[in-house]
Amino acid sequence: MEGLLCVDDFEKEALSKLEKSVCDYYRSGADDELTVKDNRDSFSRILIRPRILRDVSNRDLSTTILGKKVSVPLGISPTAMQRLAHPDGECGSAKATEIVGGILILSFFSTSSYEEVAAASPNVRKWFQFYMHKDRSINEAVFKRAEKAGFEALVLTVDAQYVGKRRASEKNPIQFPSHLRLPNAVPDEEKLDVSKVHDSIDHSVTWEGFKLQRMPYVQAAELGVDAIIVSNHGGRQIDTAPATIDILPSIVRAVDNRLEVYLDSGIRRGTDIFKALALGAKMVFVGRPAIWGLAVDGAKGAKRVMEILRDELDLTMALTGVADIKSITSKFVCTKDSLLKL
Ligand SMILES: Cc1cc2nc3c(=O)[nH]c(=O)nc-3n(C[C@H](O)[C@H](O)[C@H](O)COP(=O)(O)O)c2cc1C
Repeated sequence: MEGLLCVDDFEKEALSKLEKSVCDYYRSGADDELTVKDNRDSFSRILIRPRILRDVSNRDLSTTILGKKVSVPLGISPTAMQRLAHPDGECGSAKATEIVGGILILSFFSTSSYEEVAAASPNVRKWFQFYMHKDRSINEAVFKRAEKAGFEALVLTVDAQYVGKRRASEKNPIQFPSHLRLPNAVPDEEKLDVSKVHDSIDHSVTWEGFKLQRMPYVQAAELGVDAIIVSNHGGRQIDTAPATIDILPSIVRAVDNRLEVYLDSGIRRGTDIFKALALGAKMVFVGRPAIWGLAVDGAKGAKRVMEILRDELDLTMALTGVADIKSITSKFVCTKDSLLKL
């Protein structure tokens, strides 16, 4: 891993190691991948305005998420089938998250069970991602199992009632290896048919259909959820959906402190994390970066990626003149247009 200094270095290395269909599955976005591109470009368009001559000799990256401490406001988003990248899979992501003191969100379509992940990283803060199922008894059974394994929150994905059209992956589909399983989605191994696992998801569910968990903003606040994740699924669902960093300020305004707001999609640098926090996110999550880390060197690679992002955030804070997370506010960010108007 020596010489891999940033997330993009890990991505290049991972793509050179993984089999083509697996690369296409992880990397691809929907349609023309315009949202995938915009997720990154929009971060680059936002500028950071540093303050100088401030005491930044001691910095504290910790904050509180849903009432409990995290060492850094950085976690891993739910991404399916992480053992395709490396045998460590989701257990490797959990270890990496535990070491940096963030939060892991385990995909419903993970290749490691709730129990395995809990055993691999007994102290990691972990949430589990879920889709509303047509058969509500499946929901109950999954909630109970995850809770028993120590998962503290349910993250309901609401942008994937159908799967986006990811052309690269459709042209070159992955062959799901026979030794892998989806132990949370299909507990009975005999019944595993990867082509059918999305069939049980409820395509008709609306705001009235549930009163549980994470879903887009104002309505969510009224339904009593604790937090929302501003996400466009890493550009994999509806192409030309806005970059999450662009839509974040209006969501934060609408939520008006009634919920915690987190963000994912396109975070690749410490400066990106800083910008998301400045614009009102309480925490950020990364999807593909953790996969690139796993592909390069399993749990150790994922840990390195998380450390790089944490250290880049720390350095950004030092160079911008802020010593703690709550001091990162919108006064530190601007656009080029706004500067020209000064
Ligand atoms: C390969 C891959 C698989 C994903 N699988 C899931 C999933 O199973 N459940 C889910 O809610 N989101 C899933 N997502 C979306 C991620 O949770 C997250 O929103 C996205 O990866 C964030 O963008 P980023 O990859 O640019 O960080 C997946 C994303 C990728 C790239």
